Amino acid sequence: MKTQSSVLRFAASAALIVGMIFGATRALGQEGSVKRTTFGKLGDGTQIELLTLKNAHGTTAKIITYGATLQGFWVADKGGKLGDVVLGFDDLSGYLAPHPYFGATVGRFANRIAKGKFTLDGREYTLALNDGPNTLHGGRQGFSRKVWNAEILSSGAGVASVKFTYISPDGEEGFPGALKTAVVYTLTENDELKIEYTATTDKATPLNLTNHSYFNLAGSGDILGNVLQLNADQYTPVDSTLIPTGELAPVKGTPLDFTQPTAVGARIAQLAGNPGGYDHNLVLNGENGKLKWAARLSDPASGRRLEVWTTEPGVQFYTGNFLDGTIKGKGGTLYGKHAALCLETQHYPDSVNHPNFPTTILRPGAVFHSESIYKFSAK
Ligand code: GLA
Repeated sequence: MKTQSSVLRFAASAALIVGMIFGATRALGQEGSVKRTTFGKLGDGTQIELLTLKNAHGTTAKIITYGATLQGFWVADKGGKLGDVVLGFDDLSGYLAPHPYFGATVGRFANRIAKGKFTLDGREYTLALNDGPNTLHGGRQGFSRKVWNAEILSSGAGVASVKFTYISPDGEEGFPGALKTAVVYTLTENDELKIEYTATTDKATPLNLTNHSYFNLAGSGDILGNVLQLNADQYTPVDSTLIPTGELAPVKGTPLDFTQPTAVGARIAQLAGNPGGYDHNLVLNGENGKLKWAARLSDPASGRRLEVWTTEPGVQFYTGNFLDGTIKGKGGTLYGKHAALCLETQHYPDSVNHPNFPTTILRPGAVFHSESIYKFSAK
């Protein structure tokens, strides 16, 4: 009897210890993790990978190596229900077809370059025009349409981190210099997605990198009821083709005044003609190169909130004006006008032709670095 009970006691405590060990392992396994799977294949057989970054709350960022594109971002609403808050496609074919840069890493030069021309160190360069009379988002085959190499930097210990690299050859899309670019996506246990960019070049080149995610915090419908605050007292006025005049103008008294939290749709009708909604670069308060808050966005219905921080001097606030319901996205959803909004942290548009704007020229020997943080919460 006695022996039997001590055997039982031993078995019970052994089970407890084993349980603790396995429990602990499970708990560890629930911390930041990165999964690497295949997303699809290009016509020539090149594999496109999907990197899934997940934290202990289930917040999940999905990034594909095609365009180093944020394909999905799952965050909880006020009831704890996870939902995908970025526009995009379920499979690779969507990303290969023409689309307006859903979630993509945009480069070598995000936003517009007037008439596709710039002069650098006395030499004039000519780029392809892909946006009326201008060059947009790096040209015909910008960084959003390149296959990036992926390397897992950290999986576990509360941080999931993946580095994407791409070497842009000298002369690509008309830009000078072989440019080595790295984009590191890190998901923290605080539901922050941090995107860090570094680059080096062997010839002086213009450089402007951003992420072009389209956010819809409700996961469906339009974003006109979202409440936005921007850390910007000024913006860069533009001509009819969205090229800056060079002036920095106060937002005060214009529909671009988001210095106080304001519904996105409250004054959007004033911009109904051209460009059909918001599509403006805001000049962020604070120092270029220093991390500062750029935007606070909330969706009253789901309770989801997004805060954007950046070292960049500007943010292009775009309300999906060119979405017209013809693109079939995730789950067969037709994305209509204002189905999402973009907060593209970047240098000002056409900086390369405006010496009074913060410089976008990267020279050999220098290391370009910038970082933007997208922090989610719900209340
Ligand atoms: C940026 C531009 C917009 C539009 C989108 C992509 O936000 O400023 O004008 O070109 O990219 O459609």
